[in-house]
Amino acid sequence: MNCKVALSIDKIAVKKSFSKAARHYDQFAQLQRDIGVQLLNTVNKQDYKRILDLGCGTGYFSEKILHRYPQSHINCLDLCDAMLAQVAKKRLVNVTCQQGDIDNLPIDYDRFDLIFSNLVLQWSEDLCACLKQLKGRLSEGGKLHFSTLLTGTLNELTQAWRTVDQSPHTNSFLDIDTISEYLQQCGFSQLSIKTETRIVHYDNVIAVMRALKGVGANHVHGHQKGKLNGRKLIKQLEKGYQPFLNGSGQLNLTYQVCYVEAQK
Ligand SMILES: C[S@@+](CC[C@H](N)C(=O)[O-])C[C@H]1O[C@@H](n2cnc3c(N)ncnc32)[C@H](O)[C@@H]1O
Repeated sequence: MNCKVALSIDKIAVKKSFSKAARHYDQFAQLQRDIGVQLLNTVNKQDYKRILDLGCGTGYFSEKILHRYPQSHINCLDLCDAMLAQVAKKRLVNVTCQQGDIDNLPIDYDRFDLIFSNLVLQWSEDLCACLKQLKGRLSEGGKLHFSTLLTGTLNELTQAWRTVDQSPHTNSFLDIDTISEYLQQCGFSQLSIKTETRIVHYDNVIAVMRALKGVGANHVHGHQKGKLNGRKLIKQLEKGYQPFLNGSGQLNLTYQVCYVEAQK
């Protein structure tokens, strides 16, 4: 399979960011919930028995899925134990939690009738290889439904930082053609890929950074982050953000979202 070069992701650092966010994640995750609801709406009412919630976070969608398919068993997988601890607090029946990595799935895994994954696959270091693994964990005819972020996401913040320095301060994301090519290379059928632009508004740059940190999405690959402090730096960043204010003077932050439905 002709996949592109994999990213080198510091999983320990990613895990640390999400661990710090875990307890308060749900308070900051309105956008993630809205996207997840839309993703869940793409899943049909077929009677799925074995389901994987890949990168389950606090289990918000594991619970919703269980409601919808009460006869199912759900495996919740996440890199971050602190997220899984939040799932455990929900005391859901027929749910098994396991710490694990989307790029290196546990070998003893079942075959699943449905794999659901909301806003996780952008953290894969090799999406093509990851999709291949996921296909291997689906039963014949099993369905994969995922949402992920595309190039253009956090564009305003990326550009504002470029007026300050040339270090990476935001992660880069794959484009739709690459994701589509990977899915085809993996041999998925019945492909449906939809895209959507969502723009979130914030009062100032501190609020933007707090929002990213609040959901644990503040680790930047290959960048040793310092704290966003110092009035001068904040002022510079705010100045760089000026072209991206909306009519009410708020800061726009774009999310390019992709919703994928595929079958083995
Ligand atoms: C944006 S949150 C989404 C959580 C959940 N799916 C939801 O919609 O509420 C991303 C989740 O992916 C997990 N994650 C990040 N990298 C991962 C990896 N390599 N393997 C497994 N989970 C990962 C994080 O710990 C976090 O819980």
